[in-house]
This record gives sequence, structure tokens and C-alpha cells, in this order.
Amino acid sequence: LSRGYHEKVIAHYERPRNVGSLPKNDADVGTGLVGAPACGDVMKLQIRVDEKGIISDVKFKTFGCGSAIASSSYMTERVKGLSLEDAEKIKNTEIAKELCLPPVKLHCSMLAEDAIRSAIRDYRTKRSKLPETKKSGFIHVSQNSATSETVVTAHPSS
Ligand code: FES
Repeated sequence: LSRGYHEKVIAHYERPRNVGSLPKNDADVGTGLVGAPACGDVMKLQIRVDEKGIISDVKFKTFGCGSAIASSSYMTERVKGLSLEDAEKIKNTEIAKELCLPPVKLHCSMLAEDAIRSAIRDYRTKRSKLPETKKSGFIHVSQNSATSETVVTAHPSS
């Protein structure tokens, strides 16, 4: 890593938190995939949301500079345990401040802000398309062996 990076960036870069992927077709997973036009770097950030609307798991993969990797790593730690409403309020300026990014690296932190918002949007779009029975409580999905139809049984949470 080139000189000039703040030690906080290097710490995340060397030991990034929550690297990986979540199954993007799961109904409770939202995926954000964004790119920075300025440099062509790409960030994927995924959230898993529990039945209370809290982010219970989060993973990222970033093909980009050290600041972008550090920004996404920081973002994953920051949003775990937050509600979607609180997570979407996180600004890139907070990340930039926390990681002591210079002005020329602000767009790298912007990528992380865009990525979490995009993941939340994806999750909400997915939920809005689900049938009512799948939105609350536990569901049991099985296959009818005679007809091969998928059977969804809902068990309301209350
Ligand atoms: Fe492109 Fe950092 S230089 S995200």
C-alpha cells in the first residue's frame, strides 16, 4: 500500500471486516452494487435483515483502492445491529472523518454510502414484491410430491 494512507485506513485494509457474500436470492437479503465513475472502482455490499427490521448480518466485496476497501469495511461494522432507517442516514462525511480521508479520497467513502443505500433499496423492493404470507412470522416452504408445486405455509409470529 502506498504511503500517505492514514493508519486507520491501513488497519481496515490489512484486516478488512466482514468480507464475503450473502445469498442474494434470499428474501431477507438486500444487495447493493455500485461503481465510482471517477475511477471505475466497484463495491458490493449486502445486508441480511431480521424480522424486526434490524440488520443482522452484512458482507462486502470491493474492487478498488485502499480507501474504498477501508470505507466498506468500516461501513459493515457501523451498520450491523442498526435499523434500516438509521443505516440509511449514515453519510460519507462520517466515514471520511473516521478514516481521516483526504479530500481527493472523498469519492471512495461516497461509494460506501451509495452501497448501503442501494442494498436497503434492493431489500425493500424485494419485500414489496413478496406475498403477504411471507412478510411476517415463520414460513415453511415445501414441495407437493404429487404435483411438484411449491407449498408455502405461514406461521404468524404472534
Ligand atoms: Fe476509486 Fe478510491 S480511488 S474508490
